Amino acid sequence: MTHMSMNLLHALALGLTTVVTRQLVVRGNGIGHKGNDVIEQRHLDIPPMEVYVVEEHHEVIPYWFEAANRNLIPKEGNTLIHIDGHSDMAPPMYFKRFPFFKSPRGKGDYKYLMQENDMFIISAAITGLINKVVWVWPEWDKQNHGVTSTFSKLEIGWTLLQKNGSKPTRREFCICGPTESVDPKIECKRLTRDEMENSSSDEDENEGIPMKKEDCHIQKAIILEDVHEKDAAKMLFKSSSYLRGGGMILDIDEDFYGCTYAIRPLLDAGISEESIEIMDDFIGELFCPKNASEEFRADRLLVQILDHLLQLRCLKNGKEASGSSCFYANTLVTLRSIIKRKIFDDNSNLLCKKLGKDSLEATVANQLLFLFTKLSNKQNKVLQDVGFCFTTTPHTFDLTSDSKFQICHGANTPNDTAVIEHKTNVTEVISRTHTLEKIISIVKKSNPAFVTVCRSVRDGYTPRDLFPKIENDVITSIRKQFDSVKVVYDKELLGGRKGWPNRS
Ligand SMILES: *[C@@H]1O[C@H](CO)[C@@H](O)[C@H](O)[C@H]1NC(C)=O
Ligand SMILES: *[C@@H]1O[C@H](CO)[C@@H](O)[C@H](O)[C@H]1NC(C)=O
Ligand SMILES: *[C@@H]1O[C@H](CO)[C@@H](O)[C@H](O)[C@H]1NC(C)=O
Ligand SMILES: *[C@@H]1O[C@H](CO)[C@@H](O)[C@H](O)[C@H]1NC(C)=O
Ligand SMILES: *[C@@H]1O[C@H](CO)[C@@H](O)[C@H](O)[C@H]1NC(C)=O
Repeated sequence: MTHMSMNLLHALALGLTTVVTRQLVVRGNGIGHKGNDVIEQRHLDIPPMEVYVVEEHHEVIPYWFEAANRNLIPKEGNTLIHIDGHSDMAPPMYFKRFPFFKSPRGKGDYKYLMQENDMFIISAAITGLINKVVWVWPEWDKQNHGVTSTFSKLEIGWTLLQKNGSKPTRREFCICGPTESVDPKIECKRLTRDEMENSSSDEDENEGIPMKKEDCHIQKAIILEDVHEKDAAKMLFKSSSYLRGGGMILDIDEDFYGCTYAIRPLLDAGISEESIEIMDDFIGELFCPKNASEEFRADRLLVQILDHLLQLRCLKNGKEASGSSCFYANTLVTLRSIIKRKIFDDNSNLLCKKLGKDSLEATVANQLLFLFTKLSNKQNKVLQDVGFCFTTTPHTFDLTSDSKFQICHGANTPNDTAVIEHKTNVTEVISRTHTLEKIISIVKKSNPAFVTVCRSVRDGYTPRDLFPKIENDVITSIRKQFDSVKVVYDKELLGGRKGWPNRS
C-alpha cells in the first residue's frame, strides 16, 4: 500500500482529494479483487476489446475522440497508459481554431490535434480528454531518467509572445512542471516555431524554450507518472483503484522495443547523405501521391525502375561495373523510354503536375535516373529495400508538418537525431514481450476501454527487420488477456495491413 498512500499524499498536495476519495468509495476496498472483475466480465455479454493499429502516433486522435463520441470513455478526465520508447509529451502549436481547453467541435477539429508524432497527448489533455498519463519506459531509455519512477503535476496554459517590428503578437501553449533549471523562477517552457524566431540549436527546439511561470496563464493540470518497464506492473497494481477514475486508454508504441535510424542501411552501403537529399528532392518534385494506396503504387513504380537498372547493368571482367559509363548508349535510351512510358503514360495520376513528357518533369525524371545509374548494384538493392514513402501521413496538420514523398529513410539520421538509438534482437524482444504481458494483465484489472497500437515504422523508429515479430507479439499479448479481441487496421498504414517490411 505504500505507493498507493504516496499517490494519495501527492493527490492531497495537489488538491485532488475529492477525485481520489470518490474513486476509493466507488471501488470499495479497491485493489486486490481481481477475481471479481473476471467474473463480472464473463457474466455480462461484453463486446470485444477493440485494438486500433495506426502508423504514426498522432493518428490515434480520431480513434480516441470517436471512442468518446461512442461513450466508450468519458469526454473528459481519462487515464492514458502510454507504453512507449518516448514520452510524446511535446506541447502543440497554437492555432485560432485549436479546440482551446474544450472538446473538439467535430471531426474537422481533429487535424489541429494531429500536428506531430509527439504532440498528441498534450493536445488531447488540452481538450480535457486526458488528465492522467502513466508513461511506461523501456530499460534502454534509462539515461534519460534519474530514478525508476516519478510522479508529477504538469500545468498547461497559454502565453502571449510580443514580437518586435512587423511581427504580430501571438499565442503559444506553455507547460509548467518539474524542470532541471537552476533558476527556481524558470518552471515553464513553450515550443518554438523556427520560422518565427531563432533558436541557438536543434536541442533547444526539442526541449522547448524556458519561461517564467508568471507569463504562463495556467488553464488546467494533469498528472504524469513515469515508470521503468520492470516496475510498471507493480506500480500499476498498487495504484489501480486510483487510476480507475474515468475511462482508461491502453496505448502501445512498437518502438517501445527499440529505436533505429532507417537511413542507416543507405549510409552503410556508402550512399552519402547529400546524394540521399538530392534524390529526395527530385522524387518529391516528381511524385505527389495523395493517400497510402497511391503511396504504395509510387513506391512500386520506383522499385520497378531500379529493377530495370539492375537488369541492364553490365559486368566488366566478371565484376560489377558502376557508373553510367557502364551503359551502352542505346540501352540508356531504351531505358529512358520505358521509364517515361511507365511514369507519364501509366502513372500520370501519381505526378505532382500534369505536364508533358518534355517538360520540367521529364527533365527531373532524367536527373533522377542519372543519380540512380550512379548506384552500385548493392546500393540499388538497399535503396529498393528501404523504399519510398511519405515523410508523414497526409492527415498530419499541414501547417505544422508537410507530407512529402521521398526515400523511406525516416526522420532521424545518426548525426541529427532527437532520439536514442537502440538496436534490439529476438532474445530481447521475447523478454520485453514477457514484461509487456505482465503489464497488460495488470492494466486489464482497471478495465481499459480500448487499445491503440502505433507501428512507428514510417518515421524509422521501430526496427524494421524485427517489426513483424514485434507487432505479432504485441497483438498476441493483448489477445492473451482479453476473451475476445477485434483488431482494426487503419486505412493509412504504411504498406497496408501487412506493413512496410512485408510489402510486395
Ligand atoms: C524588442 O524590443 C525591445 C525594446 O524595443 C528590446 O528590448 C528587445 O530586445 C527586442 N527583442 C528582440 C527579440 O529583438
Ligand atoms: C534570426 O537570425 C537571423 C540571421 O542570424 C537574423 O537576421 C534575424 O534578425 C534573427 N531574427 C530574430 C527574430 O532574432
Ligand atoms: C486515394 O486517392 C485516389 C485519388 O484521389 C482515389 O481515387 C482513391 O480512391 C484513394 N484511395 C483510398 C484507399 O482512399
Ligand atoms: C557524422 O558526423 C561525423 C563527425 O562529425 C562525421 O565524421 C561523419 O562523416 C558524419 N556522418 C554523416 C553520414 O554525415
Ligand atoms: C541481445 O541483446 C541483449 C541486450 O541488449 C544482449 O545482452 C544479447 O547479447 C543480445 N543477444 C544476441 C544474440 O545478440
